[in-house]
Amino acid sequence: MGNKKVKKIILFASGSGTNVENIIKYFHDNVHVEIVGVFTNNPKGGVIDRVEQMKIPLNIFNKLELNNGELVKQICLLTPDLIVLAGFLLKIPLDFTKIFFKKIINIHPSLLPKHGGKGMYGDRVHQSVKKARDKETGISIHYVNEHYDEGSIIFQAKVRVLDQDSIRKIARKVQRLEYKYYPEIIQKLLFP
Ligand code: GAR
Repeated sequence: MGNKKVKKIILFASGSGTNVENIIKYFHDNVHVEIVGVFTNNPKGGVIDRVEQMKIPLNIFNKLELNNGELVKQICLLTPDLIVLAGFLLKIPLDFTKIFFKKIINIHPSLLPKHGGKGMYGDRVHQSVKKARDKETGISIHYVNEHYDEGSIIFQAKVRVLDQDSIRKIARKVQRLEYKYYPEIIQKLLFP
């Protein structure tokens, strides 16, 4: 225990940031894990307020910086052990996925490969599940490669969908799985 190296995590988010908050809280008292920064492309995202209150370094960047190599340079200086996408909606460019091969993970709110791909995020995913009349849905935690939602799957968890479930209800069921499992899987990847 005593000689475990401190592992560094970077979080990426575009939206309200409830997963970011949950992950930060989960590791708050863990002296072996440091959240070295939260990065967002959305200056209006709810994630900003949450992170400011938790006193974690926050970085707002734009799409140009993501794609012209500026951002990856900054991230390299922070030497992260893991980059965690939590509701991050832009495509991760090739330079990132090459440098951080198997070090970037994402959570998707469905059982991939179902209901994934470009434009599939948040409630759109749950709408698609309902429209398909699927009897179950869930979460997929996967490595990130240069294609949306196609990297190899690390973990999935399922939940039943009832005919009468509203989109809200499905979203809540899936969120419960996200909050329970995403931090646990991060912990396992950092300390196999
Ligand atoms: C989460 O449900 C996450 O699975 C989803 O965005 C939500 C972010 O919520 N991600 C995707 O849909 C990726 N394609 P949050 O901002 O409250 O954590």
